[in-house]
Amino acid sequence: MPAVLFHSLNESPVEWGAALKERIPDLDFRVWPDVGDPKDIEFALLWALPPGSLVSMSNLRCICSLGQGVDHVFLDPDLPPGAKIMRLVDPWMARAMSEWMLLNILRFHRQGLEYQELERQRLWKVLPAPETSERRVGVLGLGALGGDTASKVAALGFDVAGWSRTRKLIGSVESFHGEDQLEAFLNRTDILCCLLPLTPDTAGIIHVDTLAALPKGAFVINAGRGQHVVDEDLLAALDSGHIAGAALDVFHQEPLPPEHPFWAHPKVQVWPHVSAQSNADSAAAQVTDAIVKVFAGLDPNNLVDRERQY
Ligand code: NAP
Ligand code: GLV
Repeated sequence: MPAVLFHSLNESPVEWGAALKERIPDLDFRVWPDVGDPKDIEFALLWALPPGSLVSMSNLRCICSLGQGVDHVFLDPDLPPGAKIMRLVDPWMARAMSEWMLLNILRFHRQGLEYQELERQRLWKVLPAPETSERRVGVLGLGALGGDTASKVAALGFDVAGWSRTRKLIGSVESFHGEDQLEAFLNRTDILCCLLPLTPDTAGIIHVDTLAALPKGAFVINAGRGQHVVDEDLLAALDSGHIAGAALDVFHQEPLPPEHPFWAHPKVQVWPHVSAQSNADSAAAQVTDAIVKVFAGLDPNNLVDRERQY
């Protein structure tokens, strides 16, 4: 039987190996850097493998991201041209992401930052109650994660819109699409949630002009990738008061370096890339299905477009 190669920074090879072997008992599961003969590897399940590491695997037929994002795969300029690229699309992760988005949306909506400051000053002060139906939430990216978040936020009564490449029909969620409609989407968004994939088209999308297109007092929540945000532009918008607060789960450099201004900024909450973690218990079945298909010469589900890079 051909072999599966595993590499991760955070995920346990023991846990993943056990979960896959429970379903394919004779699986030849190899953990980087113990590759053995590279020609044995037909399926690679990985996260952030050092670029150039796959080049000797001449029989590699499928690279499966150990997460929903695949930007880490495309960092390798030497991807074997014949290998298909796929990713996890896990409802467990969508639920986790929507929970995290809701946590931050509700905190901003219910004046959590203002009450935190009043608490710090030991001030008992009542602010006017916010109106849910008047709070405009905007989700950048309406895919597996953004679509779930948008529909759950809409179910709570918020005024929700989303922006994607192609038009979407998700219940009451207003659909904006394409570059031409980005500004109109931003103009009507009080709480911006980024769930885009990182591609050449989306890198740096949250910058001085897009931030300026948001209404004064808007909030920014990012769980896409750190590279979606131009950090200096967000910091300047926070300091000027144009942006009232930010919740960030992803960063240009992870772990976020101790000297980065986000850590100490009173309007920023830093999370260590935990909004939707990969989960062997929930995702092993779909990875097993992919391995079985690839070893049988078939295409797996959840393939990624190499051109679009997502
Ligand atoms: P997905 O299903 O591929 O959805 C991507 C969405 O972004 C789609 O709606 C797509 O539009 C839209 N999009 C892509 N490029 C665009 C562009 N140039 N202009 C407008 N819209 C564009 O991805 P997903 O599974 O929801 O995941 C999204 C991202 O979340 C991942 O790539 C990853 O970076 C991040 N993530 C973070 C965590 C975390 O823990 N922080 C966990 C998982 C994932 P179309 O549908 O019209 O093509
Ligand atoms: C995590 O960031 C993922 O892409 O799954």
